Amino acid sequence: MRHQVCIIGGGPSGLLLSLLLRRAGVDAVLLERRSRDYVLARIRAGVLEQGLCDLLREAGVGTRLDAEGFVHGGTVIAAHGQTVPIGLRTLTGKTVTIYGQTEVTRDLYGELDRIGAPVIHEAEDVTIHDADRGAPFVTFTQNGTSHRVDCDYIAGCDGFHGVSRRTIPAAVRRDYEHVYPFGWLGILSETRPLHHELVYAGHERGFALCSMRNAHLSRHYLQVPLADRPGDWSDEAFWDELRRRLPPDLAETLETGPSIEKSIAPLRSFISEPMRWGRLFLAGDAAHIVPPTGAKGLNLAASDVFYLSRALIARYAGDESLLETYSATALARVWKASRFSWSMTRMLHSFPDEGDFLRRMQGAEMAHLAGSPAAQTALAENYVGLPW
Ligand code: FAD
Ligand code: DHB
Repeated sequence: MRHQVCIIGGGPSGLLLSLLLRRAGVDAVLLERRSRDYVLARIRAGVLEQGLCDLLREAGVGTRLDAEGFVHGGTVIAAHGQTVPIGLRTLTGKTVTIYGQTEVTRDLYGELDRIGAPVIHEAEDVTIHDADRGAPFVTFTQNGTSHRVDCDYIAGCDGFHGVSRRTIPAAVRRDYEHVYPFGWLGILSETRPLHHELVYAGHERGFALCSMRNAHLSRHYLQVPLADRPGDWSDEAFWDELRRRLPPDLAETLETGPSIEKSIAPLRSFISEPMRWGRLFLAGDAAHIVPPTGAKGLNLAASDVFYLSRALIARYAGDESLLETYSATALARVWKASRFSWSMTRMLHSFPDEGDFLRRMQGAEMAHLAGSPAAQTALAENYVGLPW
């Protein structure tokens, strides 16, 4: 088969790119390794920046987002005895929207189906060929049969463990990585959210986050040691620990109940440069990972897709210049969002090997945040998302 663009990976990056290209008349095929049910069962991010919301609307999938998403004009940072409301709307004029990544993915699949865009699931052994030459192609197998896609460009949207980044020769690629000595244990429960805004809590026992999906569905997280497994944590142990880490007045109001999902994700900062090799372009987690503090992972994937879709659409209108600058443009934003995620992680987590000095520094940072409108504005402008 032949298509102008072959997209590898059917997570949010690949799905959104496919839809934006289709809308502009660029012909793209998407290859996903897993079944659709598997992709839709993954529970991940929940906070969408305005830029991502606008891009979803542009792609024609804004209806449910606008009807069911919760617009938040603020968030709360609590640590070292201080509870600091961050007025996102007041300080930046912008808001964030609470709408689960699972719902974003469901909406994107629905729209791709509706317009008849080709999405191939359970594509195994996806291999990229001749990406550094004029005529690249991708091979894969499905149900034991081999297939070949000839194309002009390949979009590597296949996440951190995908094939695309690893296709770029080590001599060309430079990876930057920082691994944190803990993970996040997340649970989903049919309980009332703790507060009308998200609460990020730092505590000497470790970080906690109280988030939500809707008025009856909460998503909460606890910092846990890397060696822990979800089965090590009973629901009761989770709620007890969460209560300990929250400011006492909020902890008193916490509603608890059985978890309906429980999982642990390790924390990592990772950036691979460049995001382009010949006719292969990386987007989203295929090129970079941020720790989840600050909710930047999905939003960064969206800005990559914004830049890449614009560049490919311009190319088919006769202008290759945006493809030439794609990697540098995307990376400039990636580094800034990675810095923010790293600094939020540093400010609010417990680092057992770093001792009291770091803990006092974290206290000083919280005191500065509590007393300085400038510091609150800096946090808010990063949280709502830096301009694209
Ligand atoms: P992915 O969502 O990883 O999608 C990549 C897709 O490519 C997958 O569907 C995969 O099956 C497919 N694929 C992989 N290899 C191949 C192959 N060889 N061939 C074909 N297809 C392939 N961000 C937040 O902001 N907040 C959070 O709370 C949060 N929690 C997270 C929890 C976990 C466990 C993980 C892994 C990530 C989390 N993130 C979170 C990050 C956020 O979910 C990601 O940034 C976002 O999913 C990136 O989208 P993507 O499409 O680039 O990559
Ligand atoms: C959620 C995840 C995050 O990493 C974050 O910073 C805020 C919210 C969530 O899953 O709701």
